[in-house]
Amino acid sequence: MAAKLPVPCHIAIVMDGNGRWATRRLLPRVAGHKQGVDALRRCVHACIERGVGVLTVFAFSSENWQRPADEVSGLMELMAMALGREVAQLQKAGVRLHFIGERTRLSDKVRGGLAQAESATAHNTRLVLNVCFNYGGRWEIAHAAAALAARGEPIDEVGLSRAMGMAHVPDPDLLIRTGGEKRISNFLLWQIAYSELYFSDVLWPEFDEAELDAAIADYARRERRFGQTSQQVVAIPIAEKRTA
Ligand code: FPP
Repeated sequence: MAAKLPVPCHIAIVMDGNGRWATRRLLPRVAGHKQGVDALRRCVHACIERGVGVLTVFAFSSENWQRPADEVSGLMELMAMALGREVAQLQKAGVRLHFIGERTRLSDKVRGGLAQAESATAHNTRLVLNVCFNYGGRWEIAHAAAALAARGEPIDEVGLSRAMGMAHVPDPDLLIRTGGEKRISNFLLWQIAYSELYFSDVLWPEFDEAELDAAIADYARRERRFGQTSQQVVAIPIAEKRTA
């Protein structure tokens, strides 16, 4: 019998390439983002089937406000639409939703939708889906430090980790970026200290189960050392090497 590959407990994804996917088809960029929602739906179900516990995706960055106004409003509408259309299915599939990011600049409709989706799925346990929306890694760290300072608590590693928007999940084991660029773009700066990085040339709307399996297979070949030597970690199975 073939040995079962270790599956990452937490996968994070920079879903890049929607715009190029649309432009190559002479479509507006928002059409690429719509297709991106379909790819995300597929990915959520594929993660559940493979036993991944946490999926974190970058849906809208703090810097994305600088995009053309019609693209920004298209992404906001898409979020409102996706909340209306997808939450019941996610609920049925046992997915718990969390939205990470600054909410004050969002419309009442989107803000209300996020809160409603979180409370409707709060008791689900099959997969945690973190959607980073109006999110930046530097914002998250600065926000956590400000919260600790306001409470008069020490600004140290343990305190900061606990004050992060992502404090409810372990750090990502595997970070995937689609779309061919090899950068982090202000995503999860604190949490990816020891994540394995995987870059795919595939544009996000075309990211499918086979691409996910390729990323997981690549991850399974990595030796995670967390600062130790190869000799120290060689006897420890990968499942026990995950960050707590
Ligand atoms: C980056 O591709 C992608 C985004 C800025 C948005 C990602 C959003 C989704 C996949 C849809 C889910 C989100 C919502 C709002 C429900 P890009 O536009 O930078 O692509 P490019 O590099 O080809 O231009």
